[in-house]
Amino acid sequence: MNNNVILVTGGAGFIGANFVIAWLQAGLGTVVNLDKLTYAGNLDNLRSLKDHAQHVFVQGDIADRALVDALLAEHQPSAIVHFAAESHVDRSIHGPADFIQTNVVGTFQLLEATRAYWARLSAADRDAFRYLHVSTDEVYGSLDVDDPAFSETTAYAPNSPYSASKAASDHLVRAYHHTYGLPVLTTNCSNNYGAYQFPEKLIPLVIHNALAGKPLPIYGDGGNVRDWLYVNDHCSAIRRVLAAGRVGETYNIGGCNEKTNLQVVHTLCDILDTLQPAAHSYRDLITFVPDRPGHDRRYAIDASKIQQELGWQPAEDFESGMRKTVAWYLANQDWTDNITSGAYRQWLETNYAQRNKEPA
Ligand code: NAD
Ligand code: DAU
Repeated sequence: MNNNVILVTGGAGFIGANFVIAWLQAGLGTVVNLDKLTYAGNLDNLRSLKDHAQHVFVQGDIADRALVDALLAEHQPSAIVHFAAESHVDRSIHGPADFIQTNVVGTFQLLEATRAYWARLSAADRDAFRYLHVSTDEVYGSLDVDDPAFSETTAYAPNSPYSASKAASDHLVRAYHHTYGLPVLTTNCSNNYGAYQFPEKLIPLVIHNALAGKPLPIYGDGGNVRDWLYVNDHCSAIRRVLAAGRVGETYNIGGCNEKTNLQVVHTLCDILDTLQPAAHSYRDLITFVPDRPGHDRRYAIDASKIQQELGWQPAEDFESGMRKTVAWYLANQDWTDNITSGAYRQWLETNYAQRNKEPA
């Protein structure tokens, strides 16, 4: 096993890319980054790592057992950090199949490959190896306004095909520890925001639409509550759990920033009014639209376990994190434009079609 190498899945997506960049910037070792490059995977997220000697990017599917076996055998990682997933709730409502395939079957195949690799390690390496499964607070279902926040012992009650598929993957990870002794860690985090988030999600979508003068769609009455965490803080929490978390344990991660969707959109509009003034207030673009089917009313995370046991704290408060985020999207409008115009996808298809034609 090589203690200087980790395997990251989904490292071309929103959180995965932020994690890989921070890992390499901190000089923590080599990252083998396995990503299928679905519509949400974007090599542009990794542009700051171009030609980085310790970043090995592999386009491929976590459900491709032969590929994962070969990567593990070749690179001998000391840890796997598993981000790869279909992640958007609305897409899961319109078409759940990909969610079952990647989040459930893909996680199963990754676990099977890991189990076989881990079994071949020396006893000392088996002890040191870690498999960290990145999951979501949505597995706990929906809270009423007065309910206490989700803790690690809250019963699972997933409500969307997305959250059900993530819950299934969490249970598989748990079972692989209980049955086979695989040294797993699971994290369940609240809503992230920050750079490189695909513009189908609330915050980048609202920024993009606002700048284009388009309506800002608010589902239902805008009173649904999410608990927001700056993405870099999620990444620091994962690093902390990987370094010091107790094997087999689950850690909830959150920023104690409960906001209604309307509060979030008002905050975004007010920051934009300051940074990019227009003839109108951006709030004028807010439009109430029909609700998401089965829309969970409230999520809130009790993060006291990771705070007390591992000493983790978020560095960013909501207001400063939101200002940084809006400033990033303003400074990187080409990033969003490439996605929304299809230019990125076209580039990807041409680039990979060309590469696949070349002899290895
Ligand atoms: P994302 O959709 O931005 O990125 C997902 C990445 O996984 C993409 O790069 C995609 O190409 C890749 N991928 C998808 N299917 C794959 C497959 N079969 N094989 C290999 N790669 C594949 O997602 P995100 O928002 O960055 O979320 C990452 C993880 O964190 C997910 O597991 C998600 O459930 C979890 N999570 C997200 C949030 C959030 O607020 N975004 C909060 C808590 C937990
Ligand atoms: O809680 C963690 C989860 O957060 C992650 O597991 C998911 O991968 C991630 O996508 C996110 O899920 P949400 O459904 O909470 O995120 P989304 O950005 O899609 O929506 C946030 C809230 O805003 C939600 O209440 C729905 C609402 N919304 C969303 C969109 C896209 C709107 O009102 N209008 C919109 O156009």
